[in-house]
This record gives sequence, structure tokens and C-alpha cells, in this order.
Amino acid sequence: MIFYFSCTGNSRWVAEQIALGTNDKLTNIDELIKKGENPSDIIINDDRIGIVFPTHCWRAPKPVVDFVKRLSVPKGVFRYAVATCGDNMGKGMRMFSKAFHLDSAWTVQMPNTYIPMFNLDTDEVAQKKIDDAHARIAEIVDAVCQCWSTWSIKEGGFPRFKSYAIYSSFVKGYKHTERFHLSGNCVECGKCAEACPMENVKIEGGKPSWSNHCIQCMACVHICPQKVIQYGKGTEKRGRYSLLKYLK
Ligand SMILES: Cc1cc2nc3c(=O)[nH]c(=O)nc-3n(C[C@H](O)[C@H](O)[C@H](O)COP(=O)(O)O)c2cc1C
Repeated sequence: MIFYFSCTGNSRWVAEQIALGTNDKLTNIDELIKKGENPSDIIINDDRIGIVFPTHCWRAPKPVVDFVKRLSVPKGVFRYAVATCGDNMGKGMRMFSKAFHLDSAWTVQMPNTYIPMFNLDTDEVAQKKIDDAHARIAEIVDAVCQCWSTWSIKEGGFPRFKSYAIYSSFVKGYKHTERFHLSGNCVECGKCAEACPMENVKIEGGKPSWSNHCIQCMACVHICPQKVIQYGKGTEKRGRYSLLKYLK
């Protein structure tokens, strides 16, 4: 059984590739949350369980942590996690393993999606990350099928500082949804509302508006076909990400 959470498609794709190799069933955490399903009611009768999610500010996204804390996993089930990240994850996986005990864990580098502060990867870098991810995923599938205990996490420099100090100021920014604005014509397609994993975007009077449970995942910003959804001052001069562009 593989549970995944994904805002812009990278983690969903990684979860799908793992599921192809392991033949395990895929379940979208976000859909379960939206349906109001109680994680503690989920019956796990597989002999392994994987959780796949993006790295957000050197940690697992809060909705994922809240979800796994309430799962009841029978004894003896092999438990693993895979975090996708643009670069590295600091101490985020160690912290995640305190909420959800892990036998194995991996990071998989995928194109970066956090554009309020950073540029998107160049096409060459993004393509290389995805090409390399195939080999990484094959490694993961192999280890999962054999229930190998592995800890293969790219922490990067200053891991504690990033996952503790920087993360604390990052989550304070969640409430600043006034930073979302439109820089041009909205065609009222509603894709931003559909893409939001938090159901935080509503279409009112044909235009998006944001309430206060944003996790800054940028799904609404990237999906907008008009590229007019902006967050603060940083996103206007940056491109938009679509995984489809890089899949052959
Ligand atoms: C809010 C936010 C924070 C991020 N923080 C990190 C980070 O700390 N380290 C990193 O390497 N990548 C970071 N990224 C990049 C994502 O982890 C990466 O692009 C991931 O594959 C996106 O997965 P998704 O498409 O499934 O949402 C961040 C992206 C977002 C939107």
C-alpha cells in the first residue's frame, strides 16, 4: 500500500513509478482528507506501507504528518517513506520518523517548485533530475520488495538550522494569503481551486480567493494557464512548472 501527497505532481509521479515496480495499491492522502476519511479507520492488510510526499522547507508537509500520526499500522508491516525534494531535506525525514516509525527512507531529487524565492530549475537540470530519478526509483523498488532496511536521505548543509529555525519562520508565512494576487486576466477556468490540496482556493465572482489554511505549495500558481496568479513579488518574473513537459 502506498499513500502519497503531491501538490504539483512530482511526488504523485514518483509514487506511481514505485507502485508500478512493487505492484502495490496507490492511495491519494489529499483525496482521503477531502472526503473527511478518518485515517484510523483505514485497514492496512498489506505487508508493507509507503508514504510519498514533497519536502516543504526541509520537512514533511503538515497535512502528511497529521495523517500518518493517526494511521494504525499492524505490527510486522514494513514501513518506508520517500520524500521528493528539489535539493535536500535537512533533518526532515528524521523528524517525520518520530511521527511515523520508519524501517527505510529515501529522498528523490525532482525539479524545484518553490518559486516565491527561487528560480525554477533550467530545462537541462530539471530533465536530468527526472532522468536520474528513474534509477533512484529502481533502487527503492528493489529495496522495498526485499524489505531492506535503508536510510538514504540527502540532508544538505546546516540540516538542523534549516529544519528547525528556518521552518519555524516559514510556517508563520502560511497565514499571509493576502500575498496572492492576480497580475492579469483570469479566464475563470477554476483550475487553481481544483489543484489546491487544502481546498483553500474558492472561486468567487469568477475569480479565485484564498482563505487561511494555505501551505504555500504553489499548486494554484503553477497550474494557472494564464500565469496570472502571483504570490508576493517573487513569482511574476519566474516561470511555471509542469512535470508533463519533461516526461518522455
Ligand atoms: C513550499 C515549498 C517548500 C519547499 N522546500 C523545499 C526544501 O526545503 N528542500 C528542497 O530540496 N526542495 C523544496 N521544495 C521543492 C519540492 O520539495 C519539490 O519540488 C517536490 O518534488 C515537489 O513535489 P510535488 O510536485 O509532489 O508537490 C519546496 C517546494 C515548495 C512548494
